[in-house]
Amino acid sequence: MSNLWLISEDSFDPSHQHHQETIFTIGNGYLSTRGAHEEGYPEEHRATFIHGVFDAAPISVTELANVPDWLPLTVHLNGERFSLTSGAVESFQRTLDLRTGVLTRTVRWRSPQGDTATIVLERFASLADPHTLFIRCRVTPEFAGAVEFRAALNGNSDNEGLAHWRWLGQGRRADVLYLHNRTRQSKIEIATAMKLAAAQGEELAREVWDAENTPTLSLTMRAVPGQELIVDKFVAAFTTRDVASDRLTDAAVDRVDHVAGWPHALSDNAAAWDREWQRTDVIIEGDDEAQIALRFNLFQMLVAAPRDDGRVNIGAKTLSGFGYRGHAFWDTEIFMLPLFTYTAPHIARNLLNYRRHLLPAAREKAKANGFEGALFPWESADTGEEVTPTWVPHFADRTKLVRIWTGDIEIHISADIAFAAHQYWQLTGDDPWFIESGAELILDTARFWASRAEWNAARNCYEYTDVIGPDEYHDHVNNNFFTNRMAQWNIQAALDALDWLKANAPASAADLIARLDLTEARLAHWREVLEKIYLPVHPSGLIEQFEGYFQRKEVDLAALEPRTQSIQVIFGIEGTNETQVLKQPDVLMLLYLLRDHYADDAVRVNYDYYNIRTDHTYGSSLGPSIQTIMACNVGKPDEAYEHFIRAVRADLHDVRGNAGDGIHAASAAGTWQAVVFGFGGLRVTPQGWSTRPRLPKHWKRLAFKFYHRGKLQKVDLRV
Ligand code: BGC
Repeated sequence: MSNLWLISEDSFDPSHQHHQETIFTIGNGYLSTRGAHEEGYPEEHRATFIHGVFDAAPISVTELANVPDWLPLTVHLNGERFSLTSGAVESFQRTLDLRTGVLTRTVRWRSPQGDTATIVLERFASLADPHTLFIRCRVTPEFAGAVEFRAALNGNSDNEGLAHWRWLGQGRRADVLYLHNRTRQSKIEIATAMKLAAAQGEELAREVWDAENTPTLSLTMRAVPGQELIVDKFVAAFTTRDVASDRLTDAAVDRVDHVAGWPHALSDNAAAWDREWQRTDVIIEGDDEAQIALRFNLFQMLVAAPRDDGRVNIGAKTLSGFGYRGHAFWDTEIFMLPLFTYTAPHIARNLLNYRRHLLPAAREKAKANGFEGALFPWESADTGEEVTPTWVPHFADRTKLVRIWTGDIEIHISADIAFAAHQYWQLTGDDPWFIESGAELILDTARFWASRAEWNAARNCYEYTDVIGPDEYHDHVNNNFFTNRMAQWNIQAALDALDWLKANAPASAADLIARLDLTEARLAHWREVLEKIYLPVHPSGLIEQFEGYFQRKEVDLAALEPRTQSIQVIFGIEGTNETQVLKQPDVLMLLYLLRDHYADDAVRVNYDYYNIRTDHTYGSSLGPSIQTIMACNVGKPDEAYEHFIRAVRADLHDVRGNAGDGIHAASAAGTWQAVVFGFGGLRVTPQGWSTRPRLPKHWKRLAFKFYHRGKLQKVDLRV
């Protein structure tokens, strides 16, 4: 049986290197490094991102700054530099071990002059000590002479041509070199330090180059045919988000100085990963592809999840690429949070605390738009201000600009955040957190919804006009059902939370009532809005996604097959807006979140109606995992599996052709939900939990774990 923990490739293809760089991303919740090669190639997108290290950028307001590069390591065989594009590559294998996060490349290479060696490069970002990074290079020469290893730290890294770092200084302490840089605008400093140690072989010479912004160490070793040489590069990185500026370089240098050596670091890292997998792994028997792909998706989420920092979020592309510039969306709360709430509640709490800390900015946004309460930004970075770009170049004609409205009117995110906070509280029973933080998130978003509701006297109801729902193929719509219903849910949850606080934490209730001005008159208004939000449902149970949706043009999506482009590319932005085609299943998404409030028949009617109207393959990557769950709900296992495979392959197979921009995090985390809530049928209610297995025909077993009210639960479903 093949190893179900390994992701491998057996050739280097420069035309696919961006995709492969994303797939072979490693990291440790503090930082991530794309799988670019140590020696570097033209057109590569090499990058390391550290959570929270943003800097101003054109168009996107702010972006994660690609930090100084810790990877450079070149190998020279009798003076000839190893490269996959010169000499002869006699064999090539690269493998990411998902169990430990170690990336290994093994190449047998013949230099242009004919010196051959097997070169093995291993790297990992320690999960045991997230500030430390390791590369081991093993060279087995088949010739006599010398092998030189050159290792550098490179402060000239950039974001696709845009430089963020100024050079502040560099130096040497004993055998450790360090580099000190600062971002241009956000003034975040970073210190990186490195040393190069010979673990096996005879050292012939050592040299230091103190080239500005690229401190480099060179180590030359004697080459004896058949005798393996081993050299380790140890690196440490700290920023002024971690330690004060005056201690920054010391912190990095000391950490490298005290590295216990490769074997210890490797086993500490493996032990730390083992602890993660103990609770996160999902076992699928009978479907090796699904097993490996799901583990890959989980791995990428574990790599991105902040363990020790409650002031950062996970961007829509994790820390694995330049896409979306590191900005976070509702992807976190609706798609990623459940994974963490169920398997790693401390991570979920960190992510929710990020929103909690940024409540003041959400209040500012509401106020600036003429509303009360908290309106969270559609795209969020370090300050909590809205960072959605307002205008971007058109995807088909870059001389034209397209106005992006999501930052103005995709307001459902505020309810999504409240929903995730509530779900975390219900599942964990973390009352202290709820009292301290969660309740305020729910109450202040409810204030927003009540003040944003518009009274329509003719209809005798409250409305939300001019919004964008989850399905972004349609903008400027009125009464998007998802938005209206989630607003209603949010206000109800706030009223319930207040009652709970009054009974269980009266001092906190009094404090919140005073601070948020929750007078009886205001609460009465909330109740009125709640009861009168416009939420029409057809007698059959069919829900109109937004007012007038049913009048939009029908498109027979099946008739357009086979296709390789999204409907928006085929019909254009305006053209798509006029059709019924969905980017993602908006109504089904709502039925998924509020499943207990809707009858099975209603779910079936809406599934059948919207499933055939959704651009599953090329629309939003967020859709397929939710569609899996809903297909399971309506008893369509084959369709469920089709949706699932689409989701689980999204990045590995580069389904949308943009995986080079980074991991589709919502899809990756959504696959966990698809398996656990869809195929496993897990359902948690205040009375306890149950499963209703609906495994695909060929699955023999599905096993997973989750925390319920602090206790680890084990589910093992076999057929
Ligand atoms: C989707 C949004 C999502 C965003 C970031 C968009 O294409 O329509 O729902 O939040 O990507 O992943």
